[in-house]
Amino acid sequence: MRTVKVPLGKRSYLIKIGEGLLAQLGPECGQLGLGRRCAVITDSQVGRRYAAAALKSLKAAGFDPLVVTFPAGEAQKNLRNVQACYDQLAKHRLERKSFVVALGGGVVGDLAGFVASTYLRGIPFVQVPTTLLAQVDSSVGGKVGVNLKAGKNLVGAFHQPRLVLCDLATLDSLPRREYRAGLAEVIKYGIIWDAHLFRGLEMQMHRLLRRDPALLALVVARSCEIKASVVGQDETESGLRAILNFGHTIGHAIEAVSRYGRFLHGEAISIGQVAAARLSEELMGLSTQHVTRIRSLFHAAGLPVRLNASPALQRRLLDAMRLDKKVSGGVIQFVLARKIGSVEHGCQVPAAALKRALSELNR
Ligand code: NAD
Ligand code: GLY
Repeated sequence: MRTVKVPLGKRSYLIKIGEGLLAQLGPECGQLGLGRRCAVITDSQVGRRYAAAALKSLKAAGFDPLVVTFPAGEAQKNLRNVQACYDQLAKHRLERKSFVVALGGGVVGDLAGFVASTYLRGIPFVQVPTTLLAQVDSSVGGKVGVNLKAGKNLVGAFHQPRLVLCDLATLDSLPRREYRAGLAEVIKYGIIWDAHLFRGLEMQMHRLLRRDPALLALVVARSCEIKASVVGQDETESGLRAILNFGHTIGHAIEAVSRYGRFLHGEAISIGQVAAARLSEELMGLSTQHVTRIRSLFHAAGLPVRLNASPALQRRLLDAMRLDKKVSGGVIQFVLARKIGSVEHGCQVPAAALKRALSELNR
């Protein structure tokens, strides 16, 4: 098992990474000094595969768990399901020391974490991420929340988990497309922080696509180390944490204009990172060779790198970017790269350069 610490003073916690850790959920929670009663919040897909193992482990360790299941899918990350969770938690008399277990991908982690952050003004929670994206990104760092009709993640909070338990064996059942979407966040860590990781991914992508267990453990742990280091320095995104949004401004716009139906998040940010690399070439001197390597690695991971962006679509993308949470005083803030492994946040991008980067996505 590998362990990574998220250093946040009194709110520090561990990320544990290994095969078969779901069976250890009960004993692991037993070490956290939590109450007996807990709620395992999960979705329909994950619940039918893994809720029984979670319950068994929690009960064997002396906990009194309840399972709350909502239908799978991004469209379910809403306040209606938050309300349904509150009702179940109240009905089963969960108290201040009771806790929530988020068992699932990023949708479950964000929603269950938001429930935990607000029920009784906040109770503890444990993340048990079951998608690659959730293991390398969304389960770490305490951003929790749900979508509104007006946009993604518009209601939320910062609420750090007490533990993140990444059972790599749960990734065996993850559909191929979802697995590849998670790789987009892994590649992102190489671009924003770690040129050595990026080089390793270039050389080993074929093994990673086969889900080689030893390599997967290494890659999940390195991704978590990078995220933990960034979050440890800037928990609430007053500066540095923004670098985690490399490619996300354009990626979120792509998700929004396609009404969250055509692309998975990882696919949209793959295209977004390719566009951000082109902008970086024009505005930050990122070498053409590095732009090519970035595009080639997303392509090798089986992720989309092109978008048929007609002038009408480009206008809609620009409008969507103006609504992004990262807009400040009407100016869209970008994260841009100087070289693979080194980025800057808070970069202002002229509209003409942005339009050029969007039209180059056609190529
Ligand atoms: P997801 O949670 O919707 O999971 C994808 C699909 O895979 C779902 O149908 C789910 O039921 C299924 N699934 C999950 N684990 C499985 C497994 N082991 N085997 C088989 N099927 C499984 O999507 P995701 O990609 O994990 O997360 C996306 C969400 O994460 C978005 O809502 C995004 O906003 C959020 N997110 C949050 C943060 C953060 O910091 N909080 C960061 C990145 C993304
Ligand atoms: N996924 C971006 C963040 O956690 O800040």
